[in-house]
Amino acid sequence: MTKLKSNMILDKNYQIAKVDDRIYGSFIEHLGRAVYGGIYEPDHPEADEQGFRKDVIELVKELNVPIVRYPGGNMVSAYNWEDGVGPKHERPRRLELAWRTIETNEVGTNEFVDWAKKVGSEVMMAVNLGTRGIDAARNLIEYTNHPSGTYWSDLRRSHGYEQPHNIKTWCLGNEMDGPWQIGHKTAYEYGRIAQETGKAMKQVDPTIELVACGSSNTGMPTFPEYEATTLDIAYDQVDFISLHQYYGNRSNDPANYLAKSMDMDHFINTVIATCDYIKAKHRSKKSIYLSFDEWNVWYHSNDADKKIEPWSIAPPQLEDHYNFEDALLVGSMLITFLQHADRVKMAAMAQLVNVIAPIMTENKGRAWKQTIFYPYMHASIYGRGISLKPILNTPKYDSQDFTDVPYVDSAAVYNEENQELTIFLVNKHLESAMPIEIDLRSFDNYQLVEHIELVHDDLKAVNTADHQAVAPQLNKDTKLDNGHLTAQLAKTSWNVIRLKNNN
Ligand code: AHR
Repeated sequence: MTKLKSNMILDKNYQIAKVDDRIYGSFIEHLGRAVYGGIYEPDHPEADEQGFRKDVIELVKELNVPIVRYPGGNMVSAYNWEDGVGPKHERPRRLELAWRTIETNEVGTNEFVDWAKKVGSEVMMAVNLGTRGIDAARNLIEYTNHPSGTYWSDLRRSHGYEQPHNIKTWCLGNEMDGPWQIGHKTAYEYGRIAQETGKAMKQVDPTIELVACGSSNTGMPTFPEYEATTLDIAYDQVDFISLHQYYGNRSNDPANYLAKSMDMDHFINTVIATCDYIKAKHRSKKSIYLSFDEWNVWYHSNDADKKIEPWSIAPPQLEDHYNFEDALLVGSMLITFLQHADRVKMAAMAQLVNVIAPIMTENKGRAWKQTIFYPYMHASIYGRGISLKPILNTPKYDSQDFTDVPYVDSAAVYNEENQELTIFLVNKHLESAMPIEIDLRSFDNYQLVEHIELVHDDLKAVNTADHQAVAPQLNKDTKLDNGHLTAQLAKTSWNVIRLKNNN
């Protein structure tokens, strides 16, 4: 029988890279109740002067989200951005084809930029490369980023926004490899439109960064050829390639489910290899970075969504109620990003409010935190600095789809400025606590601040508006003695061990 004990060495000289804060980004799509009934509900008692819910703003601020992708998602591929600007009473109602709802356009680009400022985030804007293309995209960036003196920039000013929004990060379409996408394209067709749209957008504002679509998930038949062809064509215009992936525990096999971050790791490694192959082919000095701009657990709501009648306004679509095991997998996915801090420079938990989201709301009622809120919040708050490479020795197991699954996943972030070290750990063992010893050799004078843990006896426990069954607590038994930390990682637990140099 495998001895259940792990040990780790952490040294401030074993560095992966500085963490780009944008890996803690998220996503708001015009889908379900993400916008209407989520961030925006003018007749809610907590609504501010623009109709945004202040209770939701406060919860988003707790997550410290640096960047929010908008307005889609599948929705963007048939979206006319012009519908969402100017006087609200003149904005058209449209059939929203991706999710088969009615879009009222009460919220559009300017309102969303305002909301993003209120929560302290940047905007990552997507352009429609499904039904539209170069012309709509270059007009939109002229509207948002050009100061004044032209048709589109002066139109923005006439809408009450004297200063440009200066949106720096742009997605060239969404999931264009997917047959479900309006305006779905082959890799060649997409590569060409991405290249030409990117070129025109950078003519308008050369300071922007562009994200090209990669594959919608690892199961796509065109993965990773789609990335290779797209980059081969648009290498010089784009800065990032996007990755999307959602997981679910459909076969109710927790050991296998908790191992799924290994698939994410494999996905990331394959996309890095593909980018670097094209880099070599082009004899280029430039590296393409990864934007994992849709990731999460998504499966709980699949059956309920099939019953939703089409053509209503803001129906409860994709409202997954997350349980404790989902929070553990989310923790492991965040650890995976930190392990790839040298190449994954942006990411977006999909999504942020109501739609496969850490934050839920009731229409006219309360707002509350799902289980997955907590690992996301901990990583976003404490995971800023330099990602270190832990030398970890941990027993392994085999599951249905994976071999050599480490029982413990870990990442560590050293914040030189604040003189803080944070160690993130997931113990995936379903029955036993895992003792761990950590050799903190180069962190002299560091003291233990706290060991936060997320634990629950029931992997299926969920949070509701009435009861936070899954919430962080402190593990008071962890000890630091002469550079050696000893802790018990509770069975199936998310752990955040925080240290600080107080000298
Ligand atoms: O996030 C929900 C949907 O998942 C997005 O609209 C789409 O891009 C992806 O398939």
